[in-house]
Amino acid sequence: MKGGYNYKLIGKPISFTLAALVFTTILLWAWEKNPFADSLLLPRQRFPMPSIDFFGDFSNNSSKPMKTNGNIEGKDLHLNTAEDTKVIEKFGTAPIDSMYAFSPGMHESNGNATSFQTKVCNYAKGRWVADNRRPLYSGFKCKQWLSEMWACRLTQRTDFSFEGYRWKPANCEIPDFERSAFLRRMQDKTIAFIGDSLGRQQFQSLMCMATGGEESPEVENVGKEYGLVKRRGAIRPDGWAYRFSNTNTTILYYWSASLCDLVPLNISDRASDIAMHLDRPPAFLRQYLHRFDVLVLNTGHHWNRGKINGNRWVMHVNGKPNQEKMRAEIGNAKNFTVYSITRWVDSQLPSHPRLKAFFRTISPRHFFNGDWNTGGTCDNTTPLVGGSEVVQEGSSDSVIEGALKGTKVKLLDITAISQLRDEGHISHYTIRGKGNAGTSDCLHWCLPGIPDAWNELLVAQI
Ligand SMILES: *[C@@H]1O[C@H](CO)[C@@H](O)[C@H](O)[C@H]1NC(C)=O
Ligand SMILES: *[C@@H]1O[C@H](CO)[C@@H](O)[C@H](O)[C@H]1NC(C)=O
Ligand SMILES: *[C@@H]1O[C@H](CO)[C@@H](O)[C@H](O)[C@H]1NC(C)=O
Ligand SMILES: *[C@@H]1O[C@H](CO)[C@@H](O)[C@H](O)[C@H]1NC(C)=O
Ligand SMILES: *[C@@H]1O[C@H](CO)[C@@H](O)[C@H](O)[C@H]1NC(C)=O
Ligand SMILES: *[C@@H]1O[C@H](CO)[C@@H](O)[C@H](O)[C@H]1NC(C)=O
Repeated sequence: MKGGYNYKLIGKPISFTLAALVFTTILLWAWEKNPFADSLLLPRQRFPMPSIDFFGDFSNNSSKPMKTNGNIEGKDLHLNTAEDTKVIEKFGTAPIDSMYAFSPGMHESNGNATSFQTKVCNYAKGRWVADNRRPLYSGFKCKQWLSEMWACRLTQRTDFSFEGYRWKPANCEIPDFERSAFLRRMQDKTIAFIGDSLGRQQFQSLMCMATGGEESPEVENVGKEYGLVKRRGAIRPDGWAYRFSNTNTTILYYWSASLCDLVPLNISDRASDIAMHLDRPPAFLRQYLHRFDVLVLNTGHHWNRGKINGNRWVMHVNGKPNQEKMRAEIGNAKNFTVYSITRWVDSQLPSHPRLKAFFRTISPRHFFNGDWNTGGTCDNTTPLVGGSEVVQEGSSDSVIEGALKGTKVKLLDITAISQLRDEGHISHYTIRGKGNAGTSDCLHWCLPGIPDAWNELLVAQI
């Protein structure tokens, strides 16, 4: 009897885990089958040539990395779970959240981490509502920050009804975005986006929101401070950093599509393979983390064989080429990386008490009747034909949701809400004479557009 009872108890979680695993596998497989090469739109990134931030010193904890002679023997940066757990246990009760004097509407002033964890509102549950105060900036303007290819107002597109919606969470209030209030709240703060081109879209969106899309001579380019300068032969720098001089607010973006540390195997050979350290955060993140107040990570669409091979990335774990077959599978490698970087950021929070870290969930793609390279399209222009509401409790991105469990890294869950907005992609519209006729971009979003709502959710949560 007793045995049967136990069996039943154990059986349930096992079958649940199994179901979750199968579901995740299908999801990952579906993404993998549909890799949209945003490198087609963003010319492929050559590995950055040696720069001040490129060869981090892994063995020492100085904030200033030293240059090495391309010695990439990674000794100490593998993530030791036992050590991390100890750190978390030691600092678990630190009143981290009470340090955020600039966060409104939160009730964790007693620093009770438990009560904080349970009181967090689920911003991803709710619905899209029409709002004539949207968009928050004009797509004709904001030329200073907005890439032409994402400014749908500059293309042949004629229907812009997608711009006129705001996300309304079911159980929490999102204060109206007001840029001067936002900047005041972000006085002396730095907001960093690190991720792929969808992260870059969110960065451009926030720049347009914070400037109202107006010419803003008071905004200073401070890329140099972060080593974000265009290197010889590069198409663009690895990122951008801008400072609003009135409030000393810095907003920056760094391109790291996989959130792995990328180190050329032979620095003197431009054509050499590049070690993709699944268990090492990008050197840029390690170097500048202490300067960030808000960090928004994202990754997802570069986790496919085509992109990894195309970039000549060779998976490394623990400083050596990966030998484990299981881990070499893209879905597992991505999951391993997402868990690794999350644990690393979480382990840094006690020593960076000002920092609020977010992991943004994957941005959904909407290719119908084919894929990005087989004529797939997203031609619908009518908003919300598939419904306007998200009722599920959990995230549609189980990998990132799972990785954040038990950490203080916050979920910026935009997957299900964006899933409802297939009409908001760039689609087949192009600036006259540019772009690739006949193909559609059903991955990136028009700006102004859906990523503005991601930022509204972000701002509500900081
Ligand atoms: C790390 O720092 C120690 C001294 O604290 C020094 O001896 C050692 O060379 C440094 N390691 C590297 C890789 O620079
Ligand atoms: C690491 O950092 C701590 C505190 O900043 C310092 O006391 C220690 O000497 C550093 N260790 C190394 C090897 O640099
Ligand atoms: C923290 O929250 C728990 C659960 O709500 C409560 O039992 C405990 O007394 C709280 N601790 C403090 C210090 O407020
Ligand atoms: C701007 O903010 C940074 C902190 O993010 C601070 O170190 C710096 O002193 C501030 N600059 C001015 C001019 O207040
Ligand atoms: C690195 O590349 C250079 C230039 O192609 C080549 O001469 C050298 O032999 C390479 N080193 C190694 C260790 O492969
Ligand atoms: C992802 O990795 C974590 C930690 O290693 C593991 O617990 C989880 O089952 C993995 N999830 C998937 C979908 O592979």
